Amino acid sequence: MKFGYFDDEQRVYVITRPDTPLPWINYLGCEEYFGIISNTAGGYSFYKDARLRRLTRYRYNNAPLDSGGRYIYLRDEDSSPPRFWSPTWQPTRTSLDEYECRHGMGYTTIHSALAGIRADIRYFIPLGENLEIWELRLTNQRPQEANLSIFATVEFCLWDAMDDATNFQRNYSVGEVEVVDEVIYHKTEYRERRNHFAFLACSERLAGFDTDREAFLGSYRGWDSPAGVESGTLTNSIAHGWQPIGAQHIRLSLKAGEQRTIIFLLGYHENPADTKFDPPGSQNVDKRTVLPIIQRYRNADEAQAAFEKLQAYWHGLLDTLQVVTPDIHTNRMMNTWNVCQLMATFNFSRSASYFESGIGRGMGFRDSNQDLLGFMHLMPGRARQRILDLAATQLPNGGAYHQFQPLTKRGNNEVGSGFNDDPLWLVLSVAAYIKETGDWSILDESVPYDNLPGSEDSLYGHLQRSMQYTLVRLGPHGLPLIGHADWNDCLNLNCFSEAPGQSFQTTTNKDGKVAESVFIAGLFIMAAGEMEEITRRKEADQAAEVYQLAAKEMENAVWEAGWDGAWFRRAYDDFGEPVGSGKCAEGQIFIEPQGMCVMAGLGIMDGRARQALDSVAERLATPHGIMLHQPGYTRYYLHLGEISSYPPGYKENGSVFCHTNPWIMIAETRLGNGSMAHDYYLRINPSKREDISEVHRCEPYVYAQMIAGREAPSYGEAKNSWLTGTAAWNYLAISQWILGIRPEFDGLRLDPCIPPEWEGFTVERSFRGCRLDITVHNPQHVSRGVVRMDLDGVRVEGNLLVLDGSQRKHQVEVWMGE
Ligand code: BGC
Ligand code: NOJ
Repeated sequence: MKFGYFDDEQRVYVITRPDTPLPWINYLGCEEYFGIISNTAGGYSFYKDARLRRLTRYRYNNAPLDSGGRYIYLRDEDSSPPRFWSPTWQPTRTSLDEYECRHGMGYTTIHSALAGIRADIRYFIPLGENLEIWELRLTNQRPQEANLSIFATVEFCLWDAMDDATNFQRNYSVGEVEVVDEVIYHKTEYRERRNHFAFLACSERLAGFDTDREAFLGSYRGWDSPAGVESGTLTNSIAHGWQPIGAQHIRLSLKAGEQRTIIFLLGYHENPADTKFDPPGSQNVDKRTVLPIIQRYRNADEAQAAFEKLQAYWHGLLDTLQVVTPDIHTNRMMNTWNVCQLMATFNFSRSASYFESGIGRGMGFRDSNQDLLGFMHLMPGRARQRILDLAATQLPNGGAYHQFQPLTKRGNNEVGSGFNDDPLWLVLSVAAYIKETGDWSILDESVPYDNLPGSEDSLYGHLQRSMQYTLVRLGPHGLPLIGHADWNDCLNLNCFSEAPGQSFQTTTNKDGKVAESVFIAGLFIMAAGEMEEITRRKEADQAAEVYQLAAKEMENAVWEAGWDGAWFRRAYDDFGEPVGSGKCAEGQIFIEPQGMCVMAGLGIMDGRARQALDSVAERLATPHGIMLHQPGYTRYYLHLGEISSYPPGYKENGSVFCHTNPWIMIAETRLGNGSMAHDYYLRINPSKREDISEVHRCEPYVYAQMIAGREAPSYGEAKNSWLTGTAAWNYLAISQWILGIRPEFDGLRLDPCIPPEWEGFTVERSFRGCRLDITVHNPQHVSRGVVRMDLDGVRVEGNLLVLDGSQRKHQVEVWMGE
């Protein structure tokens, strides 16, 4: 069952009924001001940091209730008694004659009609501005004049969203607003250390306003039936403490057939500390720098121009890489939605979504490094800066803060470091950056450790310490010690927590000298391969050999202790017993080491890689994707930690944890199995799953972190959409390994591994300043193998495209075959 459809031409997903199984959201903003918006206008806005600079409130623990949003009410003054409704369905949930939500690139529109009044609302954030525009177009489809009241509302958050949600003894007394010339300014704490405020403005004259929530809603009433809307009159209340809101009231008469556009602006503004007040010495916000901005975007033509600019920007981004394959789901995810999601994971890591509160986590070190893997080609400049910011939260010992706050760019002390895989991901992101851009200068950038001035080292030095970090932390089997956890944050082998509520990630009751990770071993070998190549080009062959040797030794350790006979083991626990082995009662086989070790090249020549992947197919693969491990843990295991805290089939306890599936897809391509790789790709592809939206329940246009596994009662149900490493990894799997258009240090490799029934495909891609028009032919219907490649009509040797930069546009033709 579907709740909408893809409009591929327009690059939007169209939702045709408001009561989707869960709120289906979109993100607004691409720079510093952001918003989350659901298909019924729920969501919130923030500046840079969803925790520390939140503009509007959202109510937690409420999927799918979805309350808190950019709510507009329409009141029909001609009906008796006057009826009112939300043209976005929420919060009044009045049944509408027409409803349609279109989530597009950086914007969302909601269209509805009721009783002859048509409303079209477009929400977006202009490039270069810290404000959002709600453009409401009203059309009177009645045969006679319509008299309407319109109310636009937001509930302000007192900036720090964590404090806002918890510290009422203070918060109920600090709220302050100012209303001047019909603009509502939210200025809580502006009197002291904040130099910023929020504003709500409108293109029309107001009939009234409210800034005090109780005045607007009435006591003991909710947003679904505000007293102010019901009575049709606002009280011009000025909030003192309690809950500051912005509510604006406009009266409008529309002739039969008449259409009017009203613009609402919600924004954020900063003043220099020494010109906060006007006049100086007063408590009035200095509005001289904000008013011109408000003036500008109140104008419908300016708003339209800003919208067009935003669309051009997005289309430019999407054009970086476009494909035409025989599979519609591949095309639409690659050409539009996966890119949109890459942008979201780049901007928010795992911080702000409908499953991440925006107050819990900042940017993850391993998460952001992996998000970058898929993002490089879109905005290499921003990727470069992010790499340097991440490296600056690395510690002198080579380890890294597990998370950092986007506003301060400082490591988060509460979570700290000691996740032993973290530093290795930095090696992969830097390598990917160089491969995409050819910009070797990044290695010479001077970057501090722990942001401490005076501790600067080259980025190259940082990478060396990343590698060293693993090498000086090997366990009894010569495998890397796991620390708090490796990629699986919930496999906590040193935790041994018996106290409810203790953090599995930071509690350590063991000295950490025994538990080892086979996964980190695979990751290390992969990183060592990159370091070897980087070092060879940067220094000399001899220096590079260090990494070759280290990788070899690690590989030996894996074969000695990490191979279980038909698959790779997962880890060793604190008792020196294997995890993810046929010997275990539960959790006998895990997906992660199969993916990571085969991607690192282990066992490809001798059949053991095939054996491992066959074990995956047999024991872990389901029609809904590949499960994390099997069997799931049916009880809490003290020595395994959080992984066994989930009921089997959910999250890290054996769900289809989508992030890991592309590792198997890539591994399958390493063995030349394009059919299998693409089959796995489609199993978790949200567009392909659109038909079972009543089962999947999350948005059909973005990947979700998990899909409940076979052991879960809700098998096949997705959760935690949007902010997941799946976005980057699945994009890599399909673009670089299945379609096989893969940047390497010296050029672009063309090495497709596709379903043999495909006749071929085409790709348009920008690469190092050139534009490539690539056509792949597959006349013999093979899965893999390039027999001929032509560059601008001239045959070239091999399948590595090395461009000399003399020309900007190139035609590339590739023939696959035996
Ligand atoms: C979640 C993990 C997450 C970890 C650290 C756990 O509760 O299940 O997905 O990585 O917390 O934030
Ligand atoms: C989500 C976390 O953000 C990520 O860092 C981790 O690798 C996965 N969960 C698996 O635990």
